[in-house]
Amino acid sequence: MNALQEEILALKKSKNAVILAHNYQVREIQEVADYVGDSLGLAYQAQASRAEIILFCGVHFMAETAKIVNPGKKVLLPDLNAGCSLAESCDAAELAAYKERHPGIYVVAYINCTAEVKALSDVICTSGNAERMVQHVPADREILFVPDQNLGEWVMEKTGRKMRLWQGNCYIHIEFTHESILRIRREYPNAPLVAHPECTRPVRLLADEVCSTEKMVHYCRDNPAKEFIIATESGMLHRLRRELPDKIFIPGPTEKCACADCRYMKMNTLEKVHEALRDETPELFMAQDLREKAFIPLQRMLDWSRDTPVVAQAK
Ligand code: 13P
Ligand code: SF4
Repeated sequence: MNALQEEILALKKSKNAVILAHNYQVREIQEVADYVGDSLGLAYQAQASRAEIILFCGVHFMAETAKIVNPGKKVLLPDLNAGCSLAESCDAAELAAYKERHPGIYVVAYINCTAEVKALSDVICTSGNAERMVQHVPADREILFVPDQNLGEWVMEKTGRKMRLWQGNCYIHIEFTHESILRIRREYPNAPLVAHPECTRPVRLLADEVCSTEKMVHYCRDNPAKEFIIATESGMLHRLRRELPDKIFIPGPTEKCACADCRYMKMNTLEKVHEALRDETPELFMAQDLREKAFIPLQRMLDWSRDTPVVAQAK
């Protein structure tokens, strides 16, 4: 731990704060976090938190999610400009217009969207439970999946359920190509390829496992292989190396480089984390009516993720 990290830990204690960090955060931030995980784990942690302050080290929609599920807390985000290309790709007014044109459509929204889009949705999903959420939707309902076309396509393949797909994508994950991944596979023929479902189909087809960032940790732990190729954002490599120090993780290269850094995730720095905790700003605020509307599909997801049998349920 460096001096700044020590100060953050002391502030965290004195202010009764909890630090929740996504797997894509830089190593120094992951090291001071109370919990590091994927969007689903972070949502559960945020809801269960008893701390007075939640310092969220991730992107804007993740901090919004924390506020929606636990509104009594002061939610801080080190940089309020930490957005997400997927969230940007789905405008709430456009979605509202779409729903007007298709009355009765059932909206499944990937958690990577704004609170306004969540408020217009029937259920939220993450990469960790998308398949399951879609299996829960009553069979007679037509589904619109927003905003990630790649995740939506993957869920269709897994479930056999047809869905209309919003045409959004993650600007980082679409940079991995069939050719760039084939090249690294030739270099490491014994290393299983683990890819995030936001990758395009030609990349997913090469993968031994397609899963959420949290499931990547479990897959690599349980698999006897020593080396793995990881096709997702670069921060994931820190989490994997910390958790599984005896294994070797090779970053999946894109056409340009082997540095899939999400510019939004990387807006959070250790300095900003320190300032946010010290000054208790920037704080995330949300109108109550918006929060209440967005809470319904989010809570539905959290409920459906907990129970075991997967059967179609009415809303
Ligand atoms: P996970 O929920 O799998 O961590 O994914 C979040 C994300 O933003 C992927 O780009
Ligand atoms: Fe959004 Fe992609 Fe960054 Fe994840 S990696 S936060 S989906 S832009």
